[in-house]
Amino acid sequence: MGSEAEENLDKCFDVVSAVVRKAGDLIASRFWKSKKVQQKLSDIDLVTETDQEVEKLLIDTLTAEFPHHRFIGEEATSEGAKCELTDAPTWIIDPVDGTMNFVHSFPHSCISIALLVKKQAEIAIIYNPVLKQLFTARRGQGAFYNGKQMHVSDKKEVSQALVVAEFGTSRDEKKLDIMLENFRKILQTSHGVRALGSAALNMAYVAVGGADVNFEFGIHAWDIAAGDLIVREAGGVVIDPAGGPLDLMSRRVLAASSPELASEFSKLIKQYYPEPRD
Ligand code: IPD
Repeated sequence: MGSEAEENLDKCFDVVSAVVRKAGDLIASRFWKSKKVQQKLSDIDLVTETDQEVEKLLIDTLTAEFPHHRFIGEEATSEGAKCELTDAPTWIIDPVDGTMNFVHSFPHSCISIALLVKKQAEIAIIYNPVLKQLFTARRGQGAFYNGKQMHVSDKKEVSQALVVAEFGTSRDEKKLDIMLENFRKILQTSHGVRALGSAALNMAYVAVGGADVNFEFGIHAWDIAAGDLIVREAGGVVIDPAGGPLDLMSRRVLAASSPELASEFSKLIKQYYPEPRD
């Protein structure tokens, strides 16, 4: 039998797995219908009623079971809640990552949720309820795709890599120029680049070996908290795009199937530092 802390994490995993399935059913039931949409920070940064309902369902269910836990949720933050990571057990939640895809019924959206304790990720789930793709990880216990252990690819060189990257949800001209330059360099040096519109699923695809590198400037902690643990537990690396450790609040991420690939890729791309931090 494990320690009390381990048993508690087992319970956390069971509770969150069940509520993610339930929330996924809600997303799937609305997926092919038209949605009520509102704008957030730009006309390509959207929120729907489903984003808000799913976040509430997740937070209410987890609060009922674990009243001392804290939350960083995408929608609560956009309504003014503090985005503050402390040592307390904290769930970091993106209720619908790939909201633009959800709005258009492009079946590439997911729930992304991670539990951090003392700022260390312990549990991570990314779930695309339309295509029934469930990616899970627990610290030290490996990463799983629909229950089967998964591993990153064996790629070590950019010339052999398939890259997933996004332009993101801002229309900032400076960022757009940098990203167009980066896409050009990646197209000239790698096997190709894909942009499917969900930061969390991009990381999950690196973890499952479908893609070899993912990077993005402008994401938020809720887009990458689960992907970070899932990629690392699948044997990959997650770092700052300029090299060095990932800073969850920096709005920058680079995930890769090997340290060699991460290092070569980070030297290839032009850097961008989004403001403000999370
Ligand atoms: C966005 C998506 C998108 C990425 C953005 C994210 P949201 O998340 O993951 O692919 O480029 O940076 O903010 O708003 O759909 O939850």
